[in-house]
Amino acid sequence: MPAMTLRVQDAQSEADLIRGIELVAEDASPLPPFTPGAHVEVTLPDGDTRPYSLVDFDGSCAAPRSYRFGVRLEDDSAGGSRFMHGLAAGDTVTVSEPVNDFPLAEDGAPSLLLAGGIGVTPIISMAAALRAAGRDYRFVYAARSRPALAFGERLAAEHGDRLTVHIDDEVGGPLDVGGTIAAAPAGAHLYVCGPRPMIDAAREAAEQAGFGPERIHFELFESAAQAEGDTAFEVELASSGQVFTIPPGRTIIEVLEEAGIDLIHDCQRGDCGICQTDVLEGEPDHRDVVLSDAERAAGNVMQICVSRAKSARLKLDL
Ligand code: FES
Repeated sequence: MPAMTLRVQDAQSEADLIRGIELVAEDASPLPPFTPGAHVEVTLPDGDTRPYSLVDFDGSCAAPRSYRFGVRLEDDSAGGSRFMHGLAAGDTVTVSEPVNDFPLAEDGAPSLLLAGGIGVTPIISMAAALRAAGRDYRFVYAARSRPALAFGERLAAEHGDRLTVHIDDEVGGPLDVGGTIAAAPAGAHLYVCGPRPMIDAAREAAEQAGFGPERIHFELFESAAQAEGDTAFEVELASSGQVFTIPPGRTIIEVLEEAGIDLIHDCQRGDCGICQTDVLEGEPDHRDVVLSDAERAAGNVMQICVSRAKSARLKLDL
């Protein structure tokens, strides 16, 4: 993917733990266009990359002068968000051209946009495009608390009564995802971006409400899943018999690529399905949002960018 060096034009707090970053070309020339739902990959000092969804408030993504996104400071200080929060105006970063794994459907049907926390960033661009095109949409934005609500005032001004903001600690609990989806107009597309529990709940509710898979679109907004108590496990490659140890805090992909093994992957969050790999022996510990409950239970495949193992060793068809 071609990369560019861009300069930080602006970096400021947008909400608790969330920093807004705006990047421009060093010569101020226009940047490559993008479509709502697109992201760029930012290269970290250690050479790793992190995806950030581009925010377009005003429908200017066809000829952008800057790229804007939001970065939530994660607990895991090695995860890259600390580097991103340390950026200041004048710094430079390496950024890929935009790619879009979460595009709007083109069929003109109504849209229900569901955002959780910092997952609002691609949804903002979608809402702006739908509004500009005069299409029917509803925008539901959930946050844990009022101080954690990024871009809230601007969104309220732009989307009026099409926007519903849900603040968990003001109403005593999380958004009723099922009720929200059940109330969507017939034939609507559902777009969800947020943390794993929101996506799981939305997919289940949408399936129950009769949404076909072609009308359920989601993007996970979390860094690679880690859980307290994760332990090391082994991965055996069926093709060569090589065995690798995957320690806590590292993914199968990271360990295998470091050993020079070529793998196909994209999102590295567990939501695109590109890295899906057959499991020949052992029991996966699924951390993705791609597989259905039945596929998880069968344990024949796994997403090796995020999922781990319940057994001491996995034999993979690699
Ligand atoms: S790379 Fe997207 S699910 Fe693994």
